[in-house]
Amino acid sequence: MRIWKNNKKKELSADIDMNRIPTHIAIIMDGNGRWAALRGMPRAVGHRAGVEALREIVRTCDALGVKYLTVYAFSTENWKRPQSEIGILMSLLKEYVRKELGDLHANHVQIRVLGNIEQLPPDVREAILLACEKTKDNTGLIFNLAVNYGGRAELLHAVKSIVKDVQAGKLDEEKINEESFENYLYTGGCPEPDLLIRTSGEMRISNFLLWQVAYSEFVVVNECWPDFNEKSLIEAVRIFQNRDRRFGGIKKVEE
Ligand code: FPP
Repeated sequence: MRIWKNNKKKELSADIDMNRIPTHIAIIMDGNGRWAALRGMPRAVGHRAGVEALREIVRTCDALGVKYLTVYAFSTENWKRPQSEIGILMSLLKEYVRKELGDLHANHVQIRVLGNIEQLPPDVREAILLACEKTKDNTGLIFNLAVNYGGRAELLHAVKSIVKDVQAGKLDEEKINEESFENYLYTGGCPEPDLLIRTSGEMRISNFLLWQVAYSEFVVVNECWPDFNEKSLIEAVRIFQNRDRRFGGIKKVEE
């Protein structure tokens, strides 16, 4: 097991303000297939390289002091891919969770899952649930793996749960508001993402965190996900730190 924290904190801090690190970073890890195609390799090689990129980004987020990291690992729409590719993604997911669990746990990372995991192959589901259970009391980085996740499905799931609770008398209809609604989302209890990164140049939200990204800063980078590294993350944070976040209001100086 490796403890990675603080080894790199100093070298990372040169280009950014360490006092204004985004609390929550969400990432759409796109472009594994194109990365592989550009090299004349099968898509599976791109996904494998994507896992390596994810390892580096989790460590970097933790070293930077990011509190929440949410990554889009498999969407509700990804079931439309060929069965062979779904199989590869599922086995990579299981392998990633099993292999990384020791290091993540040793570094106090808490693993959570967002999405309907009932529909996953049982071995994948069990590996994820075990990782969540083992790390549930950890107080470090909260690492949300969005698996079989879709923003629309999440909203419907929340609405149905609310209806059930109202019918059962557990929730007063009058108390349904933005704050209470958020507790019914898979991300209940997590602050919304400050920074949403998408790789491979695509300018789409792709059904990711539809409710939660209402005021997130969106940074799209041209690199495909396997090329996204520590330096790329620092650059995205630097761009974020230069943005003027107004949340629908006006600049402080204009008040
Ligand atoms: C897509 O690239 C990315 C995904 C389908 C999700 C992210 C998957 C990984 C990073 C690898 C597996 C992750 C884990 C946690 C095991 P794409 O196939 O859409 O690329 P393309 O748009 O170039 O075809």
